[in-house]
Amino acid sequence: MNILVTGGAGYIGSHTCVELLNAGYDIVVVDNLDNSNIKAVETVKRITGKDFPFYEYDLLDREKLEEVFADNKIDAVIHFAGLKAVGESTQIPLRYYHNNITGSLILMELMEKYDVNNIVFSSSATVYGMPKTVPITEDFPLSTTNPYGSTKLMIEQIMTDVSKANPKLSVTLLRYFNPIGAHKSGDLGEDPKGIPNNLLPYVAQVAVGKLEKVHVFGNDYPTADGTGVRDYIHVVDLALGHLKAIEHCSGKAGVHIYNLGTGNGYSVLQIIDAFSKACGKELPYQIDPRRPGDIAECYADATKAKNELDWVATRGIAEMCEDSWRWQSNHPNGFDD
Ligand code: NAD
Ligand code: UFG
Repeated sequence: MNILVTGGAGYIGSHTCVELLNAGYDIVVVDNLDNSNIKAVETVKRITGKDFPFYEYDLLDREKLEEVFADNKIDAVIHFAGLKAVGESTQIPLRYYHNNITGSLILMELMEKYDVNNIVFSSSATVYGMPKTVPITEDFPLSTTNPYGSTKLMIEQIMTDVSKANPKLSVTLLRYFNPIGAHKSGDLGEDPKGIPNNLLPYVAQVAVGKLEKVHVFGNDYPTADGTGVRDYIHVVDLALGHLKAIEHCSGKAGVHIYNLGTGNGYSVLQIIDAFSKACGKELPYQIDPRRPGDIAECYADATKAKNELDWVATRGIAEMCEDSWRWQSNHPNGFDD
């Protein structure tokens, strides 16, 4: 089976490429390297000992993207490519809507033209907006609080509409919770540009001495220790969820929706503590005001993925932090080292 991976040079995409290749799939990768590094692609090839076509193309460039469909017989698409920074999306919403939505439209138009009928889409727990309760099941009401989240919800809607019009199309919407961790080799991991927005890469950069201390955004939430609670999932578990989705949903027309999370919530202070243990030193932190738009608690009910995809996350929080630390300490400057 030949799988087109859009955004395959990125954090989750590159880890998924490794698992796809290890499982014997053929892949074709398209990425414009807007938020990633060609060295991630080279590392995937080195770790797996396998070669594959890589196109440094933008999904918005229809003619270039069509070359990929014309040159390769594609059986399924895993669509990671997109811009993902929540804060930035509120500053430059047009760029987010254009990149994420127009990119997905062009991709789906070419899939239709070349009779490719399987797609797995990277959605997000952000589509649950401000959930009234936790854990979150797939049938919770959907809403968004920022343009990034709106692009995810709109793309889910577009894919659902397209599937209704095409009785052959299989659409799988995977709603990820909070991916962290890195490949066991310590040579593939998250490499954010500039100051990280997300907790884990920030903590990792404090541990390696690039940043002074962790800023904890609020300790007055209605949670056990007052800090925000999230469902952190190892990026390799997440990657394996995509293989299960391809295996179980390809060829089954309609829309299939799954939460990919562990079902466990950890607070910011618990994460700092787990990372301190992984790196063997106390990590300095200070309590700051809440970050606007943040919710107190967000964790998945992942029972549906377990029952239907035969998928569960198996890697715990200690392993997630150890793997993040191995990557960060081997590569303090990410792929630029
Ligand atoms: P990432 O930024 O590391 O990877 C996305 C990749 O897409 C990058 O390599 C980027 O260069 C590429 N890209 C962006 N626009 C493109 C375009 N127009 N044409 C070609 N390539 C393009 O992000 P990630 O963390 O690996 O996330 C992958 C997907 O999962 C994204 O769609 C993201 O929104 C979604 N997601 C991520 C998280 C998270 O916390 N990391 C959570 C939920 C959902
Ligand atoms: N936090 C801090 N300090 C920081 C960064 C974060 O205390 O420097 C806290 C936040 O307040 C929150 C928790 O750590 O309580 C996690 O924050 P992240 O920014 O790491 O992750 P979010 O849950 O806010 O959002 C992430 C992605 C979204 C995605 C969502 C659900 O950034 O794109 O997970 O999948 F939608």
